[in-house]
Formats: sequence, structure tokens, C-alpha cells
Amino acid sequence: MISSTADGLYLGLISGTSADSIDAALIDFGRGAPEVQGTLAHPWPTALRERMLALAQDEAALDLDAYGRLDVEVGHHFADAALALLKQCSVSAEAVRAIGSHGQTLRHRPTGRYPFTLQLGDPTVIAERCGIDVVADFRRADIAAGGQGAPLLPALHAMLLTQPGQTRVVLNLGGIANITVLAADGGVLGFDTGPANGLLDAWCLRHSGEPFDRDGTFAASGKIDTPLLDALLADPYFALPPPKSTGREYFHLNWLASHPRMAALEPADVQATLLELTARSVTAAIAEQAPHSTDVLTCGGGTHNGALMQRLRELLAPRGVCSTAEHGIDADFLEATAFAWLARQRLLNLPGNLPAVTGARGPRVLGAIYLAPPVPEPPARIVSGAS
Ligand SMILES: Nc1ncnc2c1ncn2[C@@H]1O[C@H](COP(=O)(O)OP(=O)(O)O)[C@@H](O)[C@H]1O
Ligand SMILES: [Mg+2]
Repeated sequence: MISSTADGLYLGLISGTSADSIDAALIDFGRGAPEVQGTLAHPWPTALRERMLALAQDEAALDLDAYGRLDVEVGHHFADAALALLKQCSVSAEAVRAIGSHGQTLRHRPTGRYPFTLQLGDPTVIAERCGIDVVADFRRADIAAGGQGAPLLPALHAMLLTQPGQTRVVLNLGGIANITVLAADGGVLGFDTGPANGLLDAWCLRHSGEPFDRDGTFAASGKIDTPLLDALLADPYFALPPPKSTGREYFHLNWLASHPRMAALEPADVQATLLELTARSVTAAIAEQAPHSTDVLTCGGGTHNGALMQRLRELLAPRGVCSTAEHGIDADFLEATAFAWLARQRLLNLPGNLPAVTGARGPRVLGAIYLAPPVPEPPARIVSGAS
């Protein structure tokens, strides 16, 4: 059994825009900096994953009853992930101060008259099943304060990866790519640069039947189509100044299908072009927002895509490009760690957002607390007295 320190353990849960798995991390903040006690990637059932991706890509409709059921169903999978991690670590529910659950994003529309963001995964189900308080709904307070509600990782990146006197970039290659600029003067910037694995996965699944392009081999078998690449890079999102954030409801297969070049191309050439689109849009964002950066640390599943990493190294040279793992930080569980940290911030009534990143009017305490059911009272002691 792992013993908790005074500050207790926190459990972070997230399924990102790739919806590849629910990532769970058990974190000890007892000594200030987060110490990872255990991690687990809990797979989604294939049919459920495909349904959620279709919904997130705006390819399917959902009535209110189906939405309500799906929210609870997803909540149960998040609870399963948390319970599996506790079992794996031989940690009891009482040892965990709180679960921070991001949920699964179905929509993220942070602009417009009534901006909103929508995550699935009923937190009451997680609290009930795990017997642990749950903090959830992390993005909406920032959006209500005029922010993007995203990205929320930069605060943790700053805490873990700042190198004084040096401008460093942290690049998260998830379904969407986002960067955090840790400036030499201590300033922090961060935003979504555009699509990454989300489009690569969707195209790969459609044309090879595989859920993702392992090591980028499908992309490497094709040729980049420059007219398509240029047309994709002309999308206004790439030229927007930060703060900005996006999701699968914008960068999806229908976005791609609208380009006339598509009809003429082999599937492998499209995959090659999408990989190049990720590398080029990330590079352009770094060149513009962090021209003097010296190194780029990558995290997220795209770090395992050898072809993508190779292309990023070429385009970002002379900057060094390496995984956060080379700096002692697990590249696959940084987001889950962030939601454990955000849960702790909520319990301490401390802000979780960085207004310079999200564009919110000010720092905000993020998330709502869903209490675990009370632990049943032990049976009253029978005091034997003289009769
Ligand atoms: N070996 C690999 N080769 C290529 N891509 C990979 C590999 N491993 C993971 N990925 C990609 O990473 C994605 C998951 O990344 P992740 O950081 O979890 O994204 P998200 O936060 O959006 O869920 C997968 O969907 C896949 O596209
Ligand atoms: Mg993921």
C-alpha cells in the first residue's frame, strides 16, 4: 500500500480529443511538486469510441434522451478507470483527497454570442462509484469570464518545465496540438495551433481500418500534395492571433472533404499531407510566438509518431526537439497529472487558469465539487454498564 503524505493523493482523469483512452494518473503533491504514483490508460469500447468521435465531428445527431444516457455511460467508464488505477496501486479510496475529471469533450465553441464547451462523463456517477469527491467542469468558469476555457495545461508546464533565462516551448501533440511558451522573462503563453492526431487518426481509420497511423508509416508511404497543403494552411484559424482554441468539431473529415483537390489524391498522399500540415502549422506558431526559443519538449501521443517527430526536428532546427520523458516527465500522462493538480487547486480555492493564456478577465477558481456519499457511521458501541 502506498502511504499518502499530509497533502494526500489526487487522481486525474481525462480522455482527450483523440478519445483513444481514458488516461488516469495518481499523484502525490505532498512535497509540493507532483509525484506520479501510478498511471493507467483505460481503453474505450470500440463502438462507444466511434460513436463519440462521430458526435464530436458533427457527423451524427443526438437527441436529449440519448445525450443523458451517454453522459452517464461515459461517467461509468471514467469511474472504471479510476477504480482500476486504485486497484493497480493498492490504494484505498479514503487515501485519495479528490478526483479531477475532465471528461470527454463533445463540443468546444469558445467564441460567439453564447460561447460554450461541453464535456461528457457524469461526475456524480464517478463520486458514487469511487467513494471519492470529484472535481469536474473545469473549463466553463474561464469561458464565462471571457476566456477560451483552454488550454489549461500551461500552468503545470510552467511549474514543471521552466528553465530560467531560456525560452522553451512545450508542445502537446494530442488530437489537437497546443503549445506553451515558457519565456525567458518568466511570461507564459499558450494556445491550440490546430489539428494533430485527430485528423491523422480519422483519415487513417477510414482508409486503412487502423485507429491510428503507427509511427506515421502510412503517411511516410505517400507524397505531400502541395496544392492541398497550401489550401489547408490557408484556413483562417492558423492566422488568428492567440488566445485561441479549437477542437474536432472544426478540424474534422468534412473540413478536409471540402477541398476540391481531395478527389484526385491517393489516401496515402492525403495522410502524408495531413502529417505535414501538423508539422508546418506547429512550426509556424512557434516561429511567430517563440522566435528565440531554444528547445521544444513534446508530450502527448504524437510523440510516438516517428515520422512526425522527424519532420518537426527538421523544421524546428536549430532548436532541440525531444520528449518531456527525457526531462523525467511521462509524456503520456501530463494531461491526467494536470487534472489532478487542478482538482487540488479547486480544493485549495486557488485559480487554475492563466488569463494571459486563455484571455479570461482574470484568474478563476475552476471546477465544481461533487461530494462522495457519506461513509456509513460505524455501529454504535454498546457500553456495558452495571445493571
Ligand atoms: N506509436 C504511435 N505512432 C503514431 N501515433 C501514435 C502512437 N501512439 C499514439 N499515437 C497517437 O496519439 C494519439 C493519442 O494521443 P493523446 O495525447 O492521448 O491525445 P488526446 O489528448 O487527444 O487524447 C493516438 O490517437 C494516436 O494518434
Ligand atoms: Mg488520449
